[in-house]
Amino acid sequence: MARAAFTQENKEICRVQIDRLEDWERTHDCGGLRAEDVGREAVLMGWVHVRRDLGNLIFIDLRDRGGITQIVFDPQVDTTAHERAHVLRNEWVLAVRGEVAPRLEGQENANMATGDVEVRVTALKILNRTEVPPFQVEGAVDASEALRLKYRYLELRRPRVQRTFRLRHQIAACVRGYLDEQGFREVETPFLTKSTPEGARDYLVPSRVNKGMFYALPQSPQLFKQLLMVSGFDRYYQIVRCFRDEDLRADRQPEFTQVDLEMSFAREETLIRLHEGMMARLYESVLGRTLDLPFPRITYGEAMARFGTDRPDTRFSMEIRDLTGPAGASEFRVFRQGIDEGGVVKGITVKDGAADFSRKDLDELTETVNGWGARGLVWVKVNEEGWQSPVKKFFADEVQTALNRAAAAEPGDLVLMVSDRNETALHVLGMLRLDLARRMNLLTKDEPAFVWVTEFPLLEFDEEEGRLVAVHHPFTAPMDEDVRRLKEAPETVRARAYDLVLNGSEIGGGSVRIHTREMQDEMFRVLGISPEEADVKFGFFLEALQYGAPPHAGMALGFDRLVAVMAGVDSIREVIAFPKTQRATCPLTDAPSRVDDRQLMELGLALRPPE
Ligand code: AMO
Repeated sequence: MARAAFTQENKEICRVQIDRLEDWERTHDCGGLRAEDVGREAVLMGWVHVRRDLGNLIFIDLRDRGGITQIVFDPQVDTTAHERAHVLRNEWVLAVRGEVAPRLEGQENANMATGDVEVRVTALKILNRTEVPPFQVEGAVDASEALRLKYRYLELRRPRVQRTFRLRHQIAACVRGYLDEQGFREVETPFLTKSTPEGARDYLVPSRVNKGMFYALPQSPQLFKQLLMVSGFDRYYQIVRCFRDEDLRADRQPEFTQVDLEMSFAREETLIRLHEGMMARLYESVLGRTLDLPFPRITYGEAMARFGTDRPDTRFSMEIRDLTGPAGASEFRVFRQGIDEGGVVKGITVKDGAADFSRKDLDELTETVNGWGARGLVWVKVNEEGWQSPVKKFFADEVQTALNRAAAAEPGDLVLMVSDRNETALHVLGMLRLDLARRMNLLTKDEPAFVWVTEFPLLEFDEEEGRLVAVHHPFTAPMDEDVRRLKEAPETVRARAYDLVLNGSEIGGGSVRIHTREMQDEMFRVLGISPEEADVKFGFFLEALQYGAPPHAGMALGFDRLVAVMAGVDSIREVIAFPKTQRATCPLTDAPSRVDDRQLMELGLALRPPE
């Protein structure tokens, strides 16, 4: 029965004549009409967002990029238009001509920019019909992500999504304006290039003309922008796509966009001030918000100690505290043994949290932290009468008092403690801090918390590779006062690097660069890269450093991340028009896909059967 009705309707729909636009010109977009326009004639074009067919009157919310306008088909105004309007369905494409009229008293909609008026249609053109969409354009997010990405062009019609992309455009335009004022020039750099190490795998592109050879898609334009400094370009920027084959997360895409820049004769301060100015301008002109400058700064060491991460979310406090001293004075074997073995006891204090966490909540938290690599979680509810805790009996009164003091805990607070190796304890508590903040709704979206992280280590030991690797990239300069330790204690050398963190998201990073051949050679030596290997990989760059490279510094902002934070959305996928899934696929185009044998042959490639 339903099927028969559908077919009947379908037949009717298929008979609908599609009109041509002819000489019709839009007078307004669907967000443009206001009370002042009453009495004017308007021509609007757009999609049927919502329709209400009351028989005698047919109301349609017509939608385009600009917004939504209510249009009315009334047989008293035009019989033909009204007659044809019965067949209209959601997402059909229309053009209407009509008179702008005030809405009936009480029918105004204060939530709509055009809510005081409606257009009483005198002529209708049906410009296109539609299949029944796989999900409703209007309304809340309902379909699975796979379906929404497969029909991404429909999802992109949603007014909320359109607003996000307008914001993205405004941010890009504002960045360009600002950098232009600051004397930066946009220069494009190659996509088909040799790989630049930024810590991820490269996407490779086989060369047909040079069989067996590969280009790499750039992980960033790092070496090219440094070469432009050697060329005397002085101030370069580019809003540029970067490609990295890495494990994806909510804030990582295989192709993403950077606001990439480089500046000659500049030092850390120059770059930091430049970016603070940029952020202030963006927030002011795009969101109408004034930012407090300068942004706070924190060293890497301090960030790790207080927040357990190098991208601290400073929207809330709940900082990590070292409790090793007083914890070691307790009779609690787990703590004492851990400390004897060189470990630490660290904790966080949840203000007024004692009453909010049940036994069950605390058991769940314990399971969660164990999943992150902890060996347990010790909790203490601090009450007026003293502690409430499963381990209370191991803590003498004065030890309890000392721990309370070290944890800055007062009656009503909850203290959560972890005993482990320093790195593990910090890592686990850093994650716990964020997890608690999420549960307690502390992660407000309207108070941007910027912080610079400085004095990163230059190098770190990579367990997998069994050697030192650069924390930023191998072109980052060591701090002058640490250079002398490069030979004996390379792991203690700090980098002239800085990261910009916004609401706990690393939105950018950069550094002062090495600009002499000698220092760059030394850096490769410390990294265990032989002169031969360095020559094969970076010979062109090392050579360029010999031809009068000026001191220079630069930075790259993760543009998608910045836009996501400014738009108040949780994933950068929402601010990329055609993003990839977590498995780096595109459900819309079905990329990646197999290619013809002929294409492979031309490239001199053959596929091994899958193992
Ligand atoms: P870095 O590798 O830190 O530095 O990248 C700069 C910023 O780009 C963003 N980002 C990403 N965003 C989305 N998806 C990804 N997969 C992804 N990877 C990085 C982050 C990060 O802070 N050439 C240097 C910059 C320089 O030294 O000038 C570089 O690329 O927000």
